[in-house]
Parts: sequence; structure tokens; C-alpha cells
Amino acid sequence: MTNQWDAKLYDRNHSFVSELATDLTELLAPQKDYRILDLGCGTGDLTNKIAIQGVEVVGIDFATTMIEQARSKYPHLHFEVLDARNLQYQEEFDAVFSNAALHWITEPEKVILGIQQALKPGGRFVAEFGGKGNVKAITTALYQALKNAGYPIDKKLNPWYFPSIAEYGSLLEKHGLQLVFATLFDRPTRLEDGEKGLQNWLKMFANSFLNTFSPEQQVSIISDMENQLHPVLYQNNAWFADYRRIRIVAVKE
Ligand code: BEZ
Repeated sequence: MTNQWDAKLYDRNHSFVSELATDLTELLAPQKDYRILDLGCGTGDLTNKIAIQGVEVVGIDFATTMIEQARSKYPHLHFEVLDARNLQYQEEFDAVFSNAALHWITEPEKVILGIQQALKPGGRFVAEFGGKGNVKAITTALYQALKNAGYPIDKKLNPWYFPSIAEYGSLLEKHGLQLVFATLFDRPTRLEDGEKGLQNWLKMFANSFLNTFSPEQQVSIISDMENQLHPVLYQNNAWFADYRRIRIVAVKE
């Protein structure tokens, strides 16, 4: 989890992250008196959307900047800075919800173990994140741009975990969570700000790669990527990220 987060920029240009998850909250279908953990809550928009349904929600995120912004936007809600790899909750939640966060954690078993312990028996884990093949065109273009410039490709800088249904489902079952629903689907996602959309996205989400280069080098890497990707990801004056989501519901046995 090495990305650095600018929470205000995130809210300004990347609000689609929570907007696109609206029907995921419908899958959560919280009932009155539910207590829910929102894992990787970012700046709190979905935490708030869930809370409005009359349930108690705790929002947690690893990034202090995100939690500060969440607290200032929703001071009546409960947010904590926590590492999802080290959850200490014991059978406290009716559901654990997570949107667009789990692909940032390359140690999934630690997270699943903590979620299993946090859930009450019969509790549900409802999540969506990047699945196998997510941002494949963008990642391929990045590696190609590095190669074109003669830079080494250090795959250890890749901060993302994008599993298949089979892979993630077997991890869930190994740790006592029964997979009851799973889907993997393409969701090309329109990026804000016209021509600048891809560079904004890269600066926000791919800084673990880019920060190892000087500002001038970054400009030429991004420009090479834009040239490669324009024919496939630019349409009607907008960039589209080639997102592919995995969405799951699992139940604690
Ligand atoms: C995603 O939401 O799929 C995603 C976001 C940032 C980087 C990679 C993937």
C-alpha cells in the first residue's frame, strides 16, 4: 500500500469511484440495527450513503489524509485510520463492505482473516475491486513506455492485486467465508478533465511507478503512454480507464 493520497484531488477528479458503486450498496442491503464496517472508506462518501439507511457504520482507511477529509465532510460519522492487514475486531459486525480498496493490498489473506474475525456468525462480506485483467492496457503501455525510454521495469513497484474469481474465492473459503455470489465484468470508466484525464489518473493512482522518475522523465513517460493508448482508450473527447471489476458476496460460516 505505497500510494500517496491527495484527498482533495481525489474528491475533485475521482468522485466516480464512489458514484459507480451505488448498486454495490444495494447489494449490501443493510437492515435496521446492522453494524457495518466500511473497509477502505476513502473520503467517506459511501460510508455516509450507507449510514443514511439508518445503520451504524465505522469507516476505516490506511491513509490519514483520506480519514481527515472524511471526518471534515461527515463529522457525525465514525472514522479510524487502520491497516486492513491487521484488523483486531472480534465478531462485531453484521457486514463488512469494501469498494475500490482491496486491489491496493497485496497481502489478501491477512485482510480476509481480519474480516472473518470481525464478522458475526452469518455476517456478510460484500466487496468490489479490480479483478484479473484490470487496467491491462494502461499497465502494458506503462511498461512499454519504460522500455522505450531504456528504463528498467521493476514489477515490484506494481502496488495492485487483481485476482480472478477462482483465486479470490478459494482464499475466502480457506478462511471460513463461503462465496455465495461472484462476478467479473468490464467497466470502462470515463475520466474527468478531457485531454488531461489519463495524466491525472496516472498521477493519482500510479505514483508508486512515476515517483521513481524526475518530473521531466515523468512527462515523457506519460506522453508516450498517451500516444500508445489514444487509439484504444480515448473517445468523444474523453479518456476511459479499462477497469474490470470483481464483485463478491461471502458469508461467514
Ligand atoms: C481501480 O479502481 O480499478 C483502480 C484504481 C487505481 C489503480 C488501479 C485500479
